Amino acid sequence: MKTCKFKQMQIERVLSGVQPSGVPHIGNYFGAMKRHIEMQDKYEDLFFFIADLHALTTQKDAKLIKEYTLELATTYLALGLDPNKCVFWKQSDVAYHPYLSWIFSCLTPIPWLERCHAFKDAKTTGKKEVNAGLFTYPCLQASDILLYKGTLVPVGKDQKQHVELTRDLAIRFNDIYGKVFPEVTPLIEDELAVIPGTDGEKMSKSYGNTITMFAPENEIKNKVMGIVTDSKGVEEKKDPTKCNVFKLYKLFGNEKEIANLAKRYKAGGLGYGDVKKMLLEKILTHFAPFRDKYNELKANPVKVECILKEGASKAEKVALKTINEVKEKIGLR
Ligand code: ADP
Ligand code: TRP
Repeated sequence: MKTCKFKQMQIERVLSGVQPSGVPHIGNYFGAMKRHIEMQDKYEDLFFFIADLHALTTQKDAKLIKEYTLELATTYLALGLDPNKCVFWKQSDVAYHPYLSWIFSCLTPIPWLERCHAFKDAKTTGKKEVNAGLFTYPCLQASDILLYKGTLVPVGKDQKQHVELTRDLAIRFNDIYGKVFPEVTPLIEDELAVIPGTDGEKMSKSYGNTITMFAPENEIKNKVMGIVTDSKGVEEKKDPTKCNVFKLYKLFGNEKEIANLAKRYKAGGLGYGDVKKMLLEKILTHFAPFRDKYNELKANPVKVECILKEGASKAEKVALKTINEVKEKIGLR
């Protein structure tokens, strides 16, 4: 971690990861990717990676893991993630992630892992296979963060517990072996609403209700036109706060446009078909400036792979330094 020249102040190291578990959608964009990209202008030490090893806990299709990894990287880069401003790599390209995870698993009491929501949910709903990887997932996540001595971790609310466990593990390691790791803070944007999918449930790759950023226009149109609404007729007055189309429109419109649309909902005379067309227009316009870059990168996957490889070699140097410190402390050197 760098220190500031003038003040003896630590500069935050921002670190986050996203799993390549499907084609990224506007929920991922507003909930995570956009935020990561904007942080490039506020922080100077940033690490972002694709958590493909984590995805193995659920994804067993080799072709899909590859495809989604490339899609996620392409989308991130098209939207403005800049490999000159941050380190951007694929987790599995740096072999120290599972290495440090093993060391952490030897320091993690079983009840810490049993308490984690992701594991508990999988166990109670029976929807996912509860494998050992899913159980020790938080140790790998702690290793992702602490390998690079990340201090600020922007994540969704669902990940808060994992980052807190990381903080506890860092404290435990430092207490037992001597200080290696910094204090880790999750950066959660509390007011960020859960973005609804086309069926009104949380938009998620696992629910088949997503609107993706760079699908062909026709596909986006079909998705938007298919958003579930109530059955009120054109002339009826409507409550914008209960409407999925309005909730999505709010992400794209400016204050005046949003207020104006809310007024039209309440007044009656506005059909859902018309609002959907307005939303479609907004989505297409919002992502239009990034579409060329997306198409260019999509046609040149080797370029994307090179960017990830270069990122991995930068990341690996940082990781090796930490691993050497850790080995020294725990008696492996
Ligand atoms: P998914 O549910 O589509 O698999 P992930 O769990 O991979 O999404 O989430 C990746 C990031 O995107 C996380 O930071 C998460 O908080 C954010 N995210 C995902 N879906 C939404 C949503 N519907 N609304 C807001 N943020 C979301
Ligand atoms: N578990 C996170 C998710 O599902 C992804 C992730 C893996 C991550 N390692 C991380 C996020 C380290 C932040 C820091 O969204």
